Amino acid sequence: MPDKSTAQDMPDLRTDGIAALEWAAGYLDRVGDLPVLAQVNPGEIRAALPVAAPEEGEPFSSVLRDLEDLLLPGVTHWQHPRYFGYFATSASEPAILAELLAATLNSVAILWRTAPAATELEEVVLDWTAQLLGLPAGWHGHIEDSASTSTLAAIIAAREATGRDVVACSEQAHSSVEKAVRMLGMRLRRIPCDGEFRMRADLLGDLDDVAAVVATVGSTATTSVDPVSAVADACARTGSWLHVDAAYAGAAMVCPEHRWAFAGVDRADSLVVNAHKWMLTPFDCSLLWTNRPADFRAAFSLVPEYLRTPDAEDGLSLSEYGPALGRRFRALKLWAVLRCHGRSGLQAHIRSGVRLAELFEGWVAAEPGWELCAPRPFSVVCFRLVGSDERNRELLERVNAGGEIFISHAMLNERYVLRLAVGQMRTTKADVQWAWDVLRREAGAFADADADADAGVAT
Ligand SMILES: Cc1ncc(COP(=O)(O)O)c(C=O)c1O
Repeated sequence: MPDKSTAQDMPDLRTDGIAALEWAAGYLDRVGDLPVLAQVNPGEIRAALPVAAPEEGEPFSSVLRDLEDLLLPGVTHWQHPRYFGYFATSASEPAILAELLAATLNSVAILWRTAPAATELEEVVLDWTAQLLGLPAGWHGHIEDSASTSTLAAIIAAREATGRDVVACSEQAHSSVEKAVRMLGMRLRRIPCDGEFRMRADLLGDLDDVAAVVATVGSTATTSVDPVSAVADACARTGSWLHVDAAYAGAAMVCPEHRWAFAGVDRADSLVVNAHKWMLTPFDCSLLWTNRPADFRAAFSLVPEYLRTPDAEDGLSLSEYGPALGRRFRALKLWAVLRCHGRSGLQAHIRSGVRLAELFEGWVAAEPGWELCAPRPFSVVCFRLVGSDERNRELLERVNAGGEIFISHAMLNERYVLRLAVGQMRTTKADVQWAWDVLRREAGAFADADADADAGVAT
């Protein structure tokens, strides 16, 4: 029997739950008024917290209070309408609620029988999403925590299937490819890109020793799209595995006008799309499909005696297709997103991001003293102030420090470039205009300082 006094002191799900939901709703109402980038120094949050856990339990209201008073100042707000860094993401309301429900059920899908609903719903939502993105019928899909894990798993399956130890990817591929290769003790071959940051498939060369080629649809810096069909041709000639990393841009395939970017993806052996990037689903939820599930199972299935179940359940456990044994009920939040937003809601979200990025791109193009640095296939604009890397670096620090907007950077052709990524569901035209105003204001401050310096020299 549980200790009664302890049980009585436990948070009451109804009353504390209402307070927590009230806090969550209030936070989303006011997030646009908070500084986007956390205005704290390293170590400051830690110093504000007790060095040890309490001896006796405290009421849940204390947790909420300290979240507000102590932690919130140390939060960089990814839900902020003027969050434009890296890839801007959104946790939409249906998925936030589904996360609460998933934690309530606490399903641990180590085997089909420990979580039949979680397992089968995962298969269903992966099928639904495959249809929405125009993928071939019949691919096997499951959810991993991150694209880094999905790509690692795909490379492991490729190595198992081919017995080879080289992985090829473009110079613009995400660092998760190099990290996977390093962790696996394999060798990486970097393929140069063309002037628009796409893999030069004609330079893939002899792939006889290549286990996998990773092609990117929506690269991290510029969102460039590798020529997947040509890469698939090269892979087919030598039996190399084709893994497509569409972690960011894959979500855009819900819109027919973006499907050109998926040409050839139907010939991939595996594909990753992050629902937690541009699909209104909170981190983490990385969707991994393969048309070679038997190769994944050969690489990952290891069922010890204590987990053996009758033959009818054989192969149904999704833990046999990836690294983790315990798997949480991530499908519930994606299910909530697909049902509550529908195809049209997802399309509207993508189209809004692309339209706002296009608008911003037009402003930069029309403004003397600024330059665009890469084509813009989706919702990310790469641009810079005409001038030195140092100036642009300083500009980024200045605009971010004020907390009005948050943007990030990339190195392209050895030049420091600013990136504005639209993807937050709360972002409006006024927010993008705000970002442009802040950038021009801070850049103008440089010009004023330069003029003062020149005047100082002259007098
Ligand atoms: C193209 C691409 N692939 C993979 C990743 C890694 O994603 P995750 O954080 O889910 O591991 C990123 C991250 O932004 C990315 O841009």
